[in-house]
Amino acid sequence: MGIDVSGFTPLEETALLTLYARALDGRSRRPILGDTRAAEVVAGIDYDFAGLGVVTSVVCQEALRTKMLDDRVRAFTAGHPDAVVVDLGAGLDDGRCRVKPPASTDWYSIDFPAVIAVRDAVLPRSAQAHSVAATLTDGKWAETIPTERPVLLIANGLLAFLSETETIALFKRVTGHFQSGELAFNDYGRIGRASRIAVKIAPQRMFKAVSSQWSGYAGFKDAHQPEVWDPRMKLVEETSLAFAPEVELFPTWLRLATRLSGRIPVMARKARILRYSFQGGF
Ligand SMILES: C[S@@+](CC[C@H](N)C(=O)[O-])C[C@H]1O[C@@H](n2cnc3c(N)ncnc32)[C@H](O)[C@@H]1O
Repeated sequence: MGIDVSGFTPLEETALLTLYARALDGRSRRPILGDTRAAEVVAGIDYDFAGLGVVTSVVCQEALRTKMLDDRVRAFTAGHPDAVVVDLGAGLDDGRCRVKPPASTDWYSIDFPAVIAVRDAVLPRSAQAHSVAATLTDGKWAETIPTERPVLLIANGLLAFLSETETIALFKRVTGHFQSGELAFNDYGRIGRASRIAVKIAPQRMFKAVSSQWSGYAGFKDAHQPEVWDPRMKLVEETSLAFAPEVELFPTWLRLATRLSGRIPVMARKARILRYSFQGGF
């Protein structure tokens, strides 16, 4: 009998979806991320994962955006072995196990208490891996995390669930608490009404479940917007999954569609990785 997650709220359940997408990628013939541990975690949880109806495009996109964020963590921790990595809305993702940062790097994973309880039960423990059971919208989540070391904060699949006010407050909390570092996350650009309707009427259960949790905030088109919200933030990278070499591993139809989307800026923005540096703590 696996771990019971029947008490998860629909928002917490989204962590099971991304976990399962990584497990499917890990089992595939040509994995993009190659996270074999995700399937072990899935096997330890009592949940109808197959019932999510996770489609191939989501498996590929989830694996690729996770790989792109992993690559940024690898680069940052290679340059700052004493770094602190903070995963905002970490769910059941074991990025630390994939990235294998230097032993002097500390890794904090933050999510709601129910998710953290399952996380602590299914993922390996280590002195450098810290779980923080907190709500990212209440401002207290950062209290136990060191401020003076170089920090890289990542958010994979989180921002669509926060309102604009919550997003701005989160960013200000980052620059207000940590002295210097970077913040990297995925986003979807500005989500238009047509995209919202398409997701709502899609037949897969997965899309219905996730879109019902979206905050209603449509996101931002101009990647410089966070600099306006908080001048301590500076955009250092804006890229799209559409330009990543790993797209070659996608099935043919998806590879062609993804490469085509890279030629149309409004489409390329639908799957962005954004990275900001900041000097904060004042
Ligand atoms: C789509 S899942 C992604 C999880 C993980 N990053 C991954 O890639 O598998 C979104 C996660 O954000 C968490 N989350 C959403 N809003 C949150 C909040 N206000 N405070 C803490 N966690 C939150 C959810 O519980 C969930 O685990």
